[in-house]
Amino acid sequence: MSESNYNLKGYFANVIDSVGDGVVVLDRQHKITLLNPAAEEITGISQRLAEGCSFDDLFRGEDVLLEMVAKTSETGMSISDHENVVLKKGPHVTPVNVTTSPLLLANGESIGIVLVLRDISNIRELEEAVRQADRLSTLGALAAGLAHEIKNPLGGIKGAAQLLERELPAGSDLREYTSIMLKEVGRVNRIVEELLSLTTPRKLELSHVDIHEVIGDIVTLQKRAAAQKDISFIQDFDLSIPPILADEALATQLFLNLIKNGVEALGDNGQLRISTRVLSDYSMTKKGERFSRMVVIDIIDDGPGISKEMMENLFTPFFTTKSKGTGLGLAICHKIVTEHRGMIKVDSEPGSGSTFTVMLPLVR
Ligand SMILES: Nc1ncnc2c1ncn2[C@@H]1O[C@H](COP(=O)(O)OP(=O)(O)OP(=O)(O)O)[C@@H](O)[C@H]1O
Ligand SMILES: [Mg+2]
Repeated sequence: MSESNYNLKGYFANVIDSVGDGVVVLDRQHKITLLNPAAEEITGISQRLAEGCSFDDLFRGEDVLLEMVAKTSETGMSISDHENVVLKKGPHVTPVNVTTSPLLLANGESIGIVLVLRDISNIRELEEAVRQADRLSTLGALAAGLAHEIKNPLGGIKGAAQLLERELPAGSDLREYTSIMLKEVGRVNRIVEELLSLTTPRKLELSHVDIHEVIGDIVTLQKRAAAQKDISFIQDFDLSIPPILADEALATQLFLNLIKNGVEALGDNGQLRISTRVLSDYSMTKKGERFSRMVVIDIIDDGPGISKEMMENLFTPFFTTKSKGTGLGLAICHKIVTEHRGMIKVDSEPGSGSTFTVMLPLVR
């Protein structure tokens, strides 16, 4: 091989190694001749192990993928699948976008197959976030209208109950009823206020907030409220995390809602752990092109956990399983986190507790 020929080969090898998408090349017998680093990452199989192996053997069980390769081999056509391929890599599954194309010589002769694999797990997560936001905004608009309509008659009921109370003689038994009426009107009013706050855009009052102080204060209060129960609170803080730019009142509401949910899930006994850490290379693409630091706060309870069906509705306004709950807590959390350009997610299995994870950007 001449030197320039070799250089050209090295050049192309570099090009393929540098491509962000996974590239796998097969010869006519479906033996793997090349698997670039991105493909190693996506498939969990190293180039060293893969080279010379039969693709059909190595990817046994990945039926959709094998079918695509077989079809391209048979028909000489390119095939793309954006929906159906998930690769199993140990306990993880990665949704991937796959294209199989024939590897053609200049004269049109096919000498193998090229597979291009793109990890779309981030896209899937973003799609889910958009769907969630969509659902919230439609419901939100509806709820805001409703809340507005409720406020006026509610004011009327409150005024009438107050008048009635004033008219009743001091020791009257009926006063008990008017006081119930006023208390319940107050409750509906609070729900309506919360609902309105959920749907009206507002300006954040940003300041440097020490999240450990915010969370610590909430825990102190919750500890006192749960003093009769056998609940242990564990604070596992990375104290090197500097203050973050946030709206302190909203941050307090966010963590209060999450911690209260945890405590409520535990019932009479259990453990609630709150941990903080910095995710220093978090980026939307996972490849590090977008370098931003996030503060991660995990609120972990060892309560009953959350079923798959419930998981879908968790952040939807008014979804509650509690007799006295409004079902607005998590919807409000979602809004607060989004307003702070952060993310919130849940990990839970029935029987093994729940973890709510909040990520907030660390900007100084
Ligand atoms: N840590 C948790 N463990 C198990 N289930 C949870 C947990 N957090 C939330 N949930 C479930 O999600 C539902 C919705 O929570 P959300 O905070 O939005 O409303 P709520 O707690 O029911 O009412 P409110 O927050 O107004 O008191 C809860 O009713 C509960 O079923
Ligand atoms: Mg709640």
